[in-house]
Amino acid sequence: MPGLSGRGSSIVGWGSALPDQVVTNADFQARLDTSDEWIRERTGIHERRWGGTTASLSITAASRALDMAGLTPGELDLVILSTATSDQTVPATSAVIAGELGYSCGTFDLDAACAGFTYAFVVGHSMLQAGLDNILIIGCDTLSNIIDKDDRSTAVLFADGAGALVLKATPGEACLRGWDLGIDTSALHLLWCNKGGYITMEGKEVFRKAVRATIDSANSALEQSKLTSDAIALFVPHQANKRIIDAAAQRLEIPEDRLAIVLDRTGNTSSASIPLALCEAADKGRISHGDHVLLAGFGAGMTWASMVVRWGNSKQ
Ligand SMILES: CC(C)(COP(=O)(O)OP(=O)(O)OC[C@H]1O[C@@H](n2cnc3c(N)ncnc32)[C@H](O)[C@@H]1OP(=O)(O)O)[C@@H](O)C(=O)NCCC(=O)NCCS
Repeated sequence: MPGLSGRGSSIVGWGSALPDQVVTNADFQARLDTSDEWIRERTGIHERRWGGTTASLSITAASRALDMAGLTPGELDLVILSTATSDQTVPATSAVIAGELGYSCGTFDLDAACAGFTYAFVVGHSMLQAGLDNILIIGCDTLSNIIDKDDRSTAVLFADGAGALVLKATPGEACLRGWDLGIDTSALHLLWCNKGGYITMEGKEVFRKAVRATIDSANSALEQSKLTSDAIALFVPHQANKRIIDAAAQRLEIPEDRLAIVLDRTGNTSSASIPLALCEAADKGRISHGDHVLLAGFGAGMTWASMVVRWGNSKQ
């Protein structure tokens, strides 16, 4: 079990961004062999957003998070962008974001597929423990660029978006209470995208493994944080399929009113999915200072990543 260091930390800003273009299930029904009813029932998705670049969506989400934190980009000590859809091979998209926002601290892209945001949070938090003070974590993907829009089995699922959090060293406890990262490489082939190609997926098998990975990883993070699921104010799972979320939540004994869901309006936005759902819940006042929030992601690899964070900031 990884240890937790004692330096105090807080989430002091958050922000998200979605492209303007809404793609509804009816849009697919009009041109593919599918239906609104099938997509809703089998996935829980009603509509999704396509458009923008990874840099542009990230910049919007990051600017909102920085504004809320009351920080200028020049005050940042580190930026981590979690993405599997960098706009170009080099430079890293985080470098393009740096150019636009005007910071010169350390910055890099991290790729752990749809589990990436949680990986980035854990890495960023460890850098706070190592002595840095202000860290920006961005999760952004533009999956509309890597799907065959005529393939009904993937086109209806994947979409674009971004979410960002600002972590700050503060007096008191660390906001990261427990975490778990891992991979099951027997699932490597189940979800794949060659460079310049389109996503291919064995949906049924991904589904089965995703439920298991979410439950096991969430339980590991809970155990490490010495909490049980009844102490969790909000569960923010990766937004891939409502049936995966419901199966995991049921096993974790977390009721619907403590679930964060944006999937119906966003589709699967990979690295952006957890921060999009978390930001919306925070904006709606569904989490309060001191609440424990459970985040659980899974993705191609099959990677997984869960963590328990204590919500709130030193200003409250
Ligand atoms: C993809 C997924 C929605 C399919 O749902 P499912 O209930 O497992 O459906 P099945 O795979 O049994 O497919 C049933 C049929 O629906 C068809 N189908 C697939 N997509 C369809 C669509 N958009 N509209 C209508 N039919 C569709 C399949 O071709 C299959 O037809 P067949 O029986 O003639 O071969 C589901 O498996 C899933 O969400 N898997 C996990 C995917 C995931 O989370 N990926 C991201 C990981 S980060």
